[in-house]
Amino acid sequence: MDTATGPQQLGGPDNARPPRLSVVVPTRNEAENIPLLIKRLAPLVVPLGAEILVVDDSDDDTPDALSRAAVDAPLPVRLLHRPASARTGGLSGAVLLGAEHARGEWIMVMDADLQHPPESAAMLATVAMRHDVDVVIGTRYAGNGSREGLDGVFREATSSWATRLVKSMFPRRLATVSDPMSGLFAFRRSAVRLDRMNPVGFKVLLELLVRHPGARVAEVAYEMATRHAGRSKASLREGANFLRHLSRLRGQRLVGQIRTRPRTLRDRLHELGRLVAFGLIGLSGMVVNTAALWFFYEPAQLHHLLGAALATQLSTTWNFLLVDNLIYRRQRRAGLAARASRFFLLNNVLLLLRLPVLQVLVWAGVGVLAANAVTLVALFLLRFVVNDRVIYTADDRGRRDPVRMLVSVDGTEARSAPSRRRYQYLKYRYDIAGVVTIGSQIRLPELEFFRAQWVAGADVDIAVRVADVGGRGPQRRAAMTQYASQSVLRYEEQLGRLGANFRIQLGPPIDIQVGPLLARSPHVVYTNIIEALLRFVMVSRGHMLLHSACVTLDGVGVMLSALTDTGKTATVLRLLRDHGGLFLSDDMTIVRPDGVAFCFPKPLTISAHTLRAVQAQDLTPQEWRRLQLQSRLHSKGGRSLALTLARFNLPIMGINAITQLVVPPPKYSVDRLVPCRMGTSTRVEELFVIERGAPGIGDLDHAETVNRMIDNTDDAYGFPPFRYLAPSITIAGQGYAQLREREREILAGFLSNVRSRVISSDCFGWADDIPRLLRAERGEAPTSAVVPSPVWPHWDAHLASAGGAV
Ligand code: GDD
Ligand code: MN
Repeated sequence: MDTATGPQQLGGPDNARPPRLSVVVPTRNEAENIPLLIKRLAPLVVPLGAEILVVDDSDDDTPDALSRAAVDAPLPVRLLHRPASARTGGLSGAVLLGAEHARGEWIMVMDADLQHPPESAAMLATVAMRHDVDVVIGTRYAGNGSREGLDGVFREATSSWATRLVKSMFPRRLATVSDPMSGLFAFRRSAVRLDRMNPVGFKVLLELLVRHPGARVAEVAYEMATRHAGRSKASLREGANFLRHLSRLRGQRLVGQIRTRPRTLRDRLHELGRLVAFGLIGLSGMVVNTAALWFFYEPAQLHHLLGAALATQLSTTWNFLLVDNLIYRRQRRAGLAARASRFFLLNNVLLLLRLPVLQVLVWAGVGVLAANAVTLVALFLLRFVVNDRVIYTADDRGRRDPVRMLVSVDGTEARSAPSRRRYQYLKYRYDIAGVVTIGSQIRLPELEFFRAQWVAGADVDIAVRVADVGGRGPQRRAAMTQYASQSVLRYEEQLGRLGANFRIQLGPPIDIQVGPLLARSPHVVYTNIIEALLRFVMVSRGHMLLHSACVTLDGVGVMLSALTDTGKTATVLRLLRDHGGLFLSDDMTIVRPDGVAFCFPKPLTISAHTLRAVQAQDLTPQEWRRLQLQSRLHSKGGRSLALTLARFNLPIMGINAITQLVVPPPKYSVDRLVPCRMGTSTRVEELFVIERGAPGIGDLDHAETVNRMIDNTDDAYGFPPFRYLAPSITIAGQGYAQLREREREILAGFLSNVRSRVISSDCFGWADDIPRLLRAERGEAPTSAVVPSPVWPHWDAHLASAGGAV
């Protein structure tokens, strides 16, 4: 068979639909293993929509064995056999060739010798296709992973030393990767440029990671088994090959970084600015260097080369402090130790270049101090470029996350003993529109409206407790770990138990544990953890938590939607104050497929422009002053700052929690801001998406509205930690994808009863435009939109006695 003609299908159904996953299996003399692999793997990956593609470099009868095994396989099995003359790149070459011919959107690479247990591989593929990441790595070095399967102490030691070496050579790229040389991994086809990849030796994954610095990575811990039959093809020659590969990769990446020129004129000007600043600091460093050399050479009487070497250490320290603090303050990506050691490494490597030149100049009769200065100036540009483009690079890390993401397939969670005994009683109970109940040990101000002490502790759908979560000691990165077999998700920050850690055990009931720091910041717990879970529990019960505001105007249910900071809250408040609307919600509204909306009156977050729009009557002067600061910090700007910080290796939840502790978000219940009345539920008839711009109004079609509202709702849950774990959620037997599908159906049903329009204004005039429009279209007479809600009798009774406002 000729490789140029592409793979040949040996068996299995000839699927009309392209596979979603291609399992690429490189083989070299695996005749005894391949039939068993197909037999065990096939049934596990069929549900994922997989094909198997074997790339074979064998001299034994692996192809025949595969043909026999493939005949009655439940999925397409294809073979690419490379004749002895066409085996370029060995294992790596085979994998890359397989990837080129793969038809799936995801590609998983695994060994044929059953060292990668098919069950773990299938789990890895599932995780990969579910999460929003680009590369998923099977790891033997994290969680419950193990490399028992490596034959012999020697192989084991080599493997772990090689891993350490590799990680130290690419400390940034591999920071969240524990097993960069794994042979079991999967990647999204569209995230990888195969033409960038160089087939060398055994380490395709390493090559892939280094050549794609922006790719987002997750890991799956697995236990490596022993080889089923046959011999490993790893050899001393492969080892030497590996070292060559490694240094070439490192070199090429370095050259690549040095060569990346600034793209825009602005960037180039900035670079020039840094060059000048760097030059000035360099000049001052030269003074330090020369003075030190004079001291070592003249009074101290040291040899001039030794003197130059010592002087360089002093001036390097000087330069580092200035450069690091004055020029690259904002570009600090790595820790202080890492930055300093790179800076010193560079200057000492350059020192090795400088010393011979210095000696030659001295022989030629130049004075020691002058010769030293010449060598310093000569290397100035090189020093700058390496500093600017390598040490303090602002290179695009794409959407890469600073958090380690690990899925443990069958390991059990290691839980160290809690440092304190804590009580279990759930002091605060909430009944949310009769749909979901929550019990919590911390008070949740957002849910105050739904306080319901009659909910039995045993009946809550979501329980929130304070507990010691995570390990005691600090760690270098925040980590998100999923224990698949126990339905546990755990987020731990850098500071051990001091961090804003949490643990979720999916139920029923859903059990949330928050660390002591988080417990003191209930807003963060509510917004970033509870509400996001609440959203999907709602979905599992046929309701949706829609990101929108809702009021009734003259008895008509009106919903408002807008991008953050457009002016939605101010509009709601003005509708209530100036047009006698009833308030249902400002941020999230509970909706049902039949078009009914329930109130969700969280306290309102007041931003600067909301302040301008309404004049709250009931705030003390001190509250007014505080509001200025609060609203600035908790506005869109504050949020986007938090999102920016989240891209760095920082304890972001902790920072968020402390910020909110020190400056609580400006939240006020609606009737503190304007006198108004509350509505319980309504049939929504009108949806307005409010936008800033030239005044105008236009209809939105149904499909477009559904998409917009889903995006808008997702946007409300964008904060990183939850974003990482959301895809792992399963509630009432439904996975994340199913829940999202169901949510879309609920929304589509809801919106089919609603007229949707975009309304633009350039003067925050929506609160006047909307009532005017409705009156013009509907006349003055209020149509009754009252929907009595049987699930919530106490509210009906309450409202009826209060005069039947709704
Ligand atoms: N097509 C092809 N061509 N396949 C090859 C070649 C080759 O030149 N060399 C090895 N293979 C196949 C083997 O048949 C097997 O399916 C897989 O690649 C791994 O080879 P082994 O010989 O079993 O390697 P190992 O178990 O010692 O090494 C494994 O662990 C390393 C990490 O410790 C592999 O997974 C490596 O990729 C991994 O780096
Ligand atoms: Mn092997």
